[in-house]
Amino acid sequence: MTDGHSPPMRGLFNSIGHPRGLTGRFVLHKMVKGHGPLLRWVLEIIDLKSVTRILDVGCGRGESLRMLGNMSSKFELTGLDISDTSVASAKRNCRNLISMDRCRIVQGEVDTLPFDDNQFNMVLAIETYFFWPDLGHGLDEIHRVLTPGGRFILVSEAYDHPAFKERNGLWEKRCDIRFLGPEEIEATMIGSGFDTEIMVDEERNWILAIGRV
Ligand SMILES: C[S@@+](CC[C@H](N)C(=O)[O-])C[C@H]1O[C@@H](n2cnc3c(N)ncnc32)[C@H](O)[C@@H]1O
Repeated sequence: MTDGHSPPMRGLFNSIGHPRGLTGRFVLHKMVKGHGPLLRWVLEIIDLKSVTRILDVGCGRGESLRMLGNMSSKFELTGLDISDTSVASAKRNCRNLISMDRCRIVQGEVDTLPFDDNQFNMVLAIETYFFWPDLGHGLDEIHRVLTPGGRFILVSEAYDHPAFKERNGLWEKRCDIRFLGPEEIEATMIGSGFDTEIMVDEERNWILAIGRV
C-alpha cells in the first residue's frame, strides 16, 4: 500500500513529529517561520506577570524559549524534546541564554518528564500534543510538575472543525495524527485535574487551551 507520497516527502512529514538528521533540521528551521504568528498570538493572550519558571514541552528549535528569554530576564527557561535533533537545534538557537544560565534544554518524553513535582509555574506545549502517545498521560505528568496555581498552555494551529476538514485531513494523513476538537481537549484536560479554559480563533482554526492547577 502507498500513501501517494515520494520517499523524500514521507521523510519530511515523519520529521515533523520527530525531527531527525538533516531533514529534521530543515523542518525545524521552517517551523520557526511558520509558527511565529501563532506564538505571537499566544503571547498576546497569556498573562505572564506572575510567571518565572517555564517549561516548553516539545520545544523543537526552542524559538518560544528564545522569544521569552528576550522578553524578560525574570524567566528561568527549560526546553524538553524527545528528538536529539530538536535538542541540538534548540541548544544552538538558545546558546546566548544558555551561556547566561537562563535556559537549559533536555532530551526527554512528555510521558516521563525528568523533573521533580511542583517545579514550574507555566508549561507550554505548542504544536506538539497530537504527536504524544497518550494525551491524558502526558497531561497527568505536566500537572505533576506544575506548582499549585501554575498554568498549562496548549496551542495548536488546527482543531477538528467541519470548515477545515479537508485541509486538516490532509495533514492528519501526512503526519499520522488526529486533531481533537475543543470539547475533547477540554474533557481530557479536566480529566487530568486542570481547571480549563478554551479559546479559538475560528477564522484561522487556531486553538489555545489554558489549564490551571
Ligand atoms: C511540530 S514540532 C513543534 C516544535 C515547537 N513547539 C514549535 O512550535 O516550533 C513538534 C515537536 O514535538 C516533539 N515531540 C513529539 N512527541 C514528543 C513527546 N512524546 N515528548 C516530547 N516531545 C515530543 C518533536 O520532537 C518536535 O520537536
